[in-house]
Amino acid sequence: MHVIGGTASTSLAERISRELGNAPFAIPFTKRFPDGEMYVRVGGRFEGEDVVVVQSTRADQDLVELLLLEDAVREAGARKVFVVVPYLGYARQDRRFFPGEPVSARTFCRHIELDADVVITVDLHSRQTLSHFSKPAFEASGIPAIARLLRERPLDVLVSPDQGGVERVKRMAELLDKPWLALQKKRIDSEHVELSIPTSLSVPIEGKQLVIVDDVISTGGTIVEAAKLLKKRNVAGISAACTHGLFLRDGFERIKAVVDEVYSTDTLGNPAEKASVAPDIAQILLREATP
Ligand code: R5P
Repeated sequence: MHVIGGTASTSLAERISRELGNAPFAIPFTKRFPDGEMYVRVGGRFEGEDVVVVQSTRADQDLVELLLLEDAVREAGARKVFVVVPYLGYARQDRRFFPGEPVSARTFCRHIELDADVVITVDLHSRQTLSHFSKPAFEASGIPAIARLLRERPLDVLVSPDQGGVERVKRMAELLDKPWLALQKKRIDSEHVELSIPTSLSVPIEGKQLVIVDDVISTGGTIVEAAKLLKKRNVAGISAACTHGLFLRDGFERIKAVVDEVYSTDTLGNPAEKASVAPDIAQILLREATP
């Protein structure tokens, strides 16, 4: 099995290759043509080999690079192409909210799978997005990676910032054998949210070390509001953990100003990247590899 690391996911790709028992790892050559178009070239031939292309698609150009890499490894003779998209961009537009809109998640799934035999992604906004792939597609979870990290960190109670995250926080709580609670969240717009603590709180939080767990930190608005709210209850400390840390604009600094620690996995490169999903992705790759 060969691993190719796209420019958006080079470090994670290298970690995946190590998890695969030091599978051959390569970074393709990339450049821009004078008109701005992207050029990629992979070295060597892959006849009869399984090839893994790893590339998150946070920015539009990451998606272009991914599609070109898929075609390039096919052209280079790959027998089976695994496309690992640790962070699948556009996944939040997973339905038509208003007439005239596209279902962006669906259209990018269709294009990504064109030259793929198997697609692997991590913590989708909605699990239903997997149904847009017609080829075998799997969702690795970022929860075990965060749980492995939190075992070594101060933690009494896990907190989901919204009811939509209950399944996630419950699973994390089971892995860590800790109590959990979920806040109530009302989204005002893409940057502002209103949060409240449920009136009947089953878990005491005064004097406790809390970790707020979310799938994505985008602008940071949710975590900042959650931390401010919880601090009013005289907690001992608050940290924040997520699978995908986008930290748009000054999101990272705003969160750091109100919490003790910020943890994220390595699906996107960021300053909070302290846990790796490489073992969880490698597990799926080994299971699905050509025998
Ligand atoms: C919402 O459904 C997600 O789980 C996150 O809570 C949300 O995307 C975070 O966004 P932001 O950091 O902009 O508040």
